[in-house]
Amino acid sequence: MSKLRAWWFGFGLIVLSVGALAARTQQSAPEAPAVKAAPITDGPTAFRESGCVQCHQIRGVGGHKGPDLSGVGRRLKKDAIQRQIMHGGAEMPAFGDALPSEQIAALVKYLSHCRAKQPRVQKPAPAADGALASAD
Ligand code: HEC
Repeated sequence: MSKLRAWWFGFGLIVLSVGALAARTQQSAPEAPAVKAAPITDGPTAFRESGCVQCHQIRGVGGHKGPDLSGVGRRLKKDAIQRQIMHGGAEMPAFGDALPSEQIAALVKYLSHCRAKQPRVQKPAPAADGALASAD
């Protein structure tokens, strides 16, 4: 009798461990991570989806609480842009804890490529001699 019980016990253990193994393999299947929101690695999309656009304009689109970033890649180096995003500023919230690092990297890369000479403010065209164009 106790032999039979021991057999069932062993059999049950095997079934359990096979089941556990199967569950583990299933967990590491490629579709599993989709449950957690993936970081946005497209720069312009990240800029929109991270809330930056509420305060910052790029090429005429966005808010005015913060400076226009259309030409920020000319003014700031990559590490300065990253620092600003991670730690925020006087009136800008810090995003270091809020965003995945891949998403911050995408923002830094995108902004460092925003190198417009002037923010797109609707202004009358400068005089033909180009004196105004060299001011920036
Ligand atoms: C609540 C408004 C607000 C939001 C949201 C915001 N910023 Fe800012 N940002 C500012 C303000 C205001 C400044 C001006 C300097 C300061 O306050 O530190 C600034 C400055 C910057 C600068 C430096 C610009 C320069 O010319 O020196 C960068 C780069 C920047 N923000 C990027 C971002 C990015 C990327 C995001 C989104 C992840 C973002 N900001 C979200 C308000 C905001």
